[in-house]
Amino acid sequence: MNAPLPPISSGEKILGVGVDLVDIVRIQRAAERHGEAFLQRVFTPAERAYCEKLGAPWASLAARWAAKEAVSKAFGTGIGPELSLNSVSVENDARGAPSIVLDAQGEKLLRARGGKRIHISLTHTATLAQAFAVITG
Ligand SMILES: CC(C)(COP(=O)(O)OP(=O)(O)OC[C@H]1O[C@@H](n2cnc3c(N)ncnc32)[C@H](O)[C@@H]1OP(=O)(O)O)[C@@H](O)C(=O)NCCC(=O)NCCS
Repeated sequence: MNAPLPPISSGEKILGVGVDLVDIVRIQRAAERHGEAFLQRVFTPAERAYCEKLGAPWASLAARWAAKEAVSKAFGTGIGPELSLNSVSVENDARGAPSIVLDAQGEKLLRARGGKRIHISLTHTATLAQAFAVITG
């Protein structure tokens, strides 16, 4: 688990923002239809470990899908050759606060943009999951 992320400090510039809203049932249906292949393609082992220990994983998995898309919007790339879905991982600290961990591809993109950190906030209801991302540098 990560240490709590400090808040945005006065010296940091906002380089990008992104938001995404997901129907939870869409993620559940995709996982039921495509099974393990879908889960492995989209989610990192850390994300799966967190969500699969919950009684009902779908809202949190959908929020993590939304986080990946929100981060891709904050970069302005969308999901594609420059940024894969599982390049972006949501990890929770001891208090439950989420933060973004990037793989090598994501880190390269962040550095190329002059970014230092990605801030993330998640929310979900019974039917919808949403994420909001801010890239700072
Ligand atoms: C950019 C992306 C994340 C948009 O997501 P979406 O689910 O298609 O659409 P949303 O409704 O969430 O968002 C649409 C808005 O995103 C914004 N958007 C589009 N491309 C964008 C980009 N490159 N950067 C930032 N924002 C972008 C636009 O404002 C758009 O709304 P508008 O056309 O009315 O202006 C999407 O193009 C993408 O990369 N999707 C990947 C999906 C995927 O991999 N699916 C696999 C299926 S299993």
